[in-house]
Amino acid sequence: MKIVPATLADTVSLCALDHSRVFSAHWSVEGWQAELAQPTSRVWCAQEEGKIVGFVALRGVCEQYELLNLAVAQAYSRRGIARALVRTVLDELAACGAEQISLEVSSRNAPAQGLYRSMGFTAVGVRRQFYPDGADALIMEQKL
Ligand SMILES: CC(C)(COP(=O)(O)OP(=O)(O)OC[C@H]1O[C@@H](n2cnc3c(N)ncnc32)[C@H](O)[C@@H]1OP(=O)(O)O)[C@@H](O)C(=O)NCCC(=O)NCCS
Repeated sequence: MKIVPATLADTVSLCALDHSRVFSAHWSVEGWQAELAQPTSRVWCAQEEGKIVGFVALRGVCEQYELLNLAVAQAYSRRGIARALVRTVLDELAACGAEQISLEVSSRNAPAQGLYRSMGFTAVGVRRQFYPDGADALIMEQKL
């Protein structure tokens, strides 16, 4: 498995993977193009034999970053791919002087909460009924 920065050529694959999973952000192809064009955006993808099997997207301003979207293809679940993507993000941000990373995760998304907790994130707040399904959003963060 290889983790590399995403490019505009990846947007259709990223969009397909994004829409294949519950709890990811479900950006359109245009949304992915806009994200990759943003100077404050960073997107990495995990590749297996040249195929995109996972991604993580974040944005940052003034040393504060937010993890906006993360997914791993169902067929590649539980092989440590999300952990490797988040590790890449944490290492890269720490190396470039970022101070904090935060994210929102559904109160109904136990697997992602487990991942984030095991990687040093702590819950610092709740946004009640934040998601369209009525679930709360837990706000989690980590100092880098
Ligand atoms: C959450 C998600 C990204 C995890 O991807 P993954 O590559 O399967 O995760 P990993 O193999 O790296 O697992 C890392 C940790 O996450 C947690 N985890 C992952 N899948 C889990 C599951 N099905 N049940 C419980 N915990 C789980 C565990 O703590 C796991 O550590 P462990 O294997 O040592 O127990 C993936 O399930 C996914 O794409 N879900 C849909 C989109 C989503 O929820 N995105 C996050 C939005 S905030």
